[in-house]
Amino acid sequence: MKLLKIAAAAALAAAVLPTSPLHTAAADTDDMPVLKADVNGDYIINSQDMVLLNKFLLGSGELTAEQAERADFDSDGVIDTFDLLGMRRSFVRNATTVPQGTWIGESSEGMRFCWFNKGREGSFADLAENTSAAFSMSKWGDSIDFTLSSGDELSSTIAWLDDEHFYLKWSDSAPELFTHKSDVPYYNGPSVAGEYVSDAGKTYKLSGYTGTSGGEDFLVLPMGTQAQFIYSDGTAKTGDFSRTDKYHFTLRWEDGTAESFTRREITVKDGITYVNGILIANKTYALPSTYAPGGLTAEFNTAFAKMQAAAKADGRKLEICSGYRSYSYQSQLYNNYVARDGKAAADTYSARPGHSEHQTGLAADINYASDYFNTTPEAKWLAENCYKYGFIIRYPKGKEDITGYKYEGWHVRYLGEELAKLVYDSGLTLEEYLCIDSKYSY
Ligand code: DAL
Ligand code: ZN
Repeated sequence: MKLLKIAAAAALAAAVLPTSPLHTAAADTDDMPVLKADVNGDYIINSQDMVLLNKFLLGSGELTAEQAERADFDSDGVIDTFDLLGMRRSFVRNATTVPQGTWIGESSEGMRFCWFNKGREGSFADLAENTSAAFSMSKWGDSIDFTLSSGDELSSTIAWLDDEHFYLKWSDSAPELFTHKSDVPYYNGPSVAGEYVSDAGKTYKLSGYTGTSGGEDFLVLPMGTQAQFIYSDGTAKTGDFSRTDKYHFTLRWEDGTAESFTRREITVKDGITYVNGILIANKTYALPSTYAPGGLTAEFNTAFAKMQAAAKADGRKLEICSGYRSYSYQSQLYNNYVARDGKAAADTYSARPGHSEHQTGLAADINYASDYFNTTPEAKWLAENCYKYGFIIRYPKGKEDITGYKYEGWHVRYLGEELAKLVYDSGLTLEEYLCIDSKYSY
């Protein structure tokens, strides 16, 4: 029985072959490994190859250098009857061995994932494009025919290179090299996109199922709650994926080590630094002197009024004692402190001009900007409740080395309710939560 040789390549391309950048770097046939015993180089091991090799061995035919390399099955530099035996072994293997597990197929047309389950079913998928095609498969000798869920039928011939690699030669398209990646099925789980920094100090750019880190490209093969990172040199490592919150996840690698990832996309617009879209002013990231919202933002004021009313209902009085501060006002403040206490001391409690959160219009001091505030019931109420209204205590106790400032129970930063709760729940400072520094470079 022979399946219809319909426009198989076109159907495949339309169904599953991707176009993402990593994929276009897929194998040119010149770069693909040599299929031993395939003397004529058509990616099929059949009687034509046997005839060429037999003729050569009988002295009635020549082989080109390329054909000779292919014919030398045992790679011992000599073409002899042992190579003929190797070719026979290939015939048998190709006729009897059925691929199982998850494989990645590469051809001049692109790259895709392929899952063969223990029955004769599976699927092709382009995870980057989020397209997939289920198939059922039948095999006679070395020919494998696929019936896609669309009803399209595709014919191919299998030729194994080794336990981890085989070629499929499609009836009317380029040979495709399959590499074994996993015994478990790929599973199109949640994809992770964006820039991440790991606690191992590496920066990753992830975009769904591809990524780069330290100049290395890799594929990310999702397998339910696991993810396999497959590097271009062929090495792979698998980790158990668990998400902490929308900006953080952890991968627990097979060797028992774990790597935590923090989303950190730093963008600079008009001289203002945003991390994951959050405006940042600290010792590392300065605001331009011209940045002057002129007052606390409307969001700050609305949220503060709500918090103030809630505090009042609990018998606590919250007032803003210092809100927006312009660049030049911060400059005066800072210079006065330096004159009074010296630069090193001033830097522990007052921001240099351009570095103060007060210039953002998103931060304010509550009641008293002094250690006295930390002893009042309002300080306790603020620390326990401000996140509910979208604020965080920006310079907590014990985190002086991270924030760059001594404990200021009175200084709140508006982040919005969702992010303030995430930061509060994490127990981290904003610097830790976003994996950024707060250190002067001058
Ligand atoms: N007191 C804070 C750090 C400021 O000067 O902005
Ligand atoms: Zn302050």
